[in-house]
Amino acid sequence: MIEHKTIVVTGGAGFVGSSLIHTLRRTTDSRIIAFDNLRRRGSELNLERFKDSGVEFVHGDVRLPSDWESLPAFDLLIDCSAEPSVTQGTTGSGWPLIENNLVSTAHCLEAARRNDAALMLLSTSRIYPIRSLESLTWEEQETRYAWLDEQPLPGVSSQGVSELFPLQGARSLYGATKLASEYLLQEYHYLHGMPVMVNRCGVLAGPWQMGKVDQGVVSLWVARHYFEKPLCYKGFGGTGKQVRDVLHIDDFSDLLLEQLKHKEKWDATPYNVGGGLSSSTSLLELTRLCREVTGHSFELAKEEKTSEVDLRIYLTDNSRVSQEFNWKPKRNMQDIVESIYHWIDQSPPGLQKILG
Ligand SMILES: NC(=O)c1ccc[n+]([C@@H]2O[C@H](COP(=O)([O-])OP(=O)(O)OC[C@H]3O[C@@H](n4cnc5c(N)ncnc54)[C@H](O)[C@@H]3O)[C@@H](O)[C@H]2O)c1
Repeated sequence: MIEHKTIVVTGGAGFVGSSLIHTLRRTTDSRIIAFDNLRRRGSELNLERFKDSGVEFVHGDVRLPSDWESLPAFDLLIDCSAEPSVTQGTTGSGWPLIENNLVSTAHCLEAARRNDAALMLLSTSRIYPIRSLESLTWEEQETRYAWLDEQPLPGVSSQGVSELFPLQGARSLYGATKLASEYLLQEYHYLHGMPVMVNRCGVLAGPWQMGKVDQGVVSLWVARHYFEKPLCYKGFGGTGKQVRDVLHIDDFSDLLLEQLKHKEKWDATPYNVGGGLSSSTSLLELTRLCREVTGHSFELAKEEKTSEVDLRIYLTDNSRVSQEFNWKPKRNMQDIVESIYHWIDQSPPGLQKILG
C-alpha cells in the first residue's frame, strides 16, 4: 500500500467518512484528519471515538475557503462530505444542494491541487437516469420485484447496472451534482495529472449510520424494529417490494485499501460499487430479517404514492471493480442487519434520540 503522510477526510464525522477513517487508523501510520461541519445529526457522536483513536478533528465547512486554511498540508483527500439524500432539492431552491455537493467538490479539487494530493470522490449510483431505469423489464415475485435478463438498454441485466448503462436523461438533482462532480475530477486529472478515484456507490450500510426516513434506510429499519417505532412502506402501491442491493461499509473499506495499493489506476475511471444481487433486499424482506434479528414484530403502514425520484429496483453490477481490484463483497444482508443490531444494542449514549 502507498503510505500517505497526511490524509484529510471531508465529511469525516459522517457514516462513510468515519468508517473509512477507523479502517485507515488501524492499517496505516498516516496522520488522519476528519474535517466536518457536523451538519448531520449524530455525526457529533464520532468525536469521542476520534479522541480515543488519535484521529484529529477540524470543525469546518468545505464550502468556506477560510476553513481550509486550518488544515495542514496533506497528500490524500477523501471527499465524503455531502448532503446524501436523493429527495433533497426536489422542492424549492436547488442551490443549497448544488452548493453543498458540487461547489464543495470544486473546493476539494482546488485544495487537492494546491497540496499536490490525490482525491477520492464518493459518487453514487444515482447518476444513472431515472426514466431509463424505470423503463427496464421486470417481474413481480412473491416478496420482491426483479429485473429480467433481457433488457431494452445496454449495460444492464438481472445482475445489475454496469458502467455501460446510458447516461442520457434526468437523474435527480442529487445525482446531477454527483455526475457533474465526477466530470470536474476528470478535468483535474487531465489538466494537472491529479490522481483521482471515482466510486459510484449504491446503498451503503452498517454500524454508525444515523439512518433517517430519506437516507440510511437499512439502519433506520433495524433501529425502528429495535425501539419498536412505526415504519411505512412508501411508493409502488405500498407493497414493500422495491429492491436495492446493499454493501456493508466494511466491504467498502476493504475496497479502499485495495485501491490505495494501485495508484496507477487513479485515472478518473468510474467504478460501480455495491453489494450486487447476492446482497440485495426488498423492504418486505428487510422487515422479515429485522423481525428475526430483533425479535420485535409490528404492522407497517402503507403509502401508495411513489416519489418522482424513487426507483422500483436498483442493483449494482460490480464486475469492473471486482476484476480491477481483485475485490468482492464478503458480507450479505444477514451480516449487515446483525452488525447494525449489535451496534444499536451497545447503544452509544444519545443514539436512541437520533434513531428511535
Ligand atoms: N450512505 C450511502 O448509502 C451512500 C451511497 C452512495 C454515495 N454516498 C456518498 O458518500 C458520501 C458520504 O455519505 P454518508 O452516508 O457518510 O453521509 P453522512 O451524512 O453520514 O456524512 C456526511 C458528512 O458530511 C458532513 N458535511 C455535510 N456538508 C458539509 C460541509 N459543507 N462541510 C463539511 N462537512 C459537511 C456532515 O456533517 C456529515 O458528517 C456522500 O458524498 C454521499 O453522497 C453515500
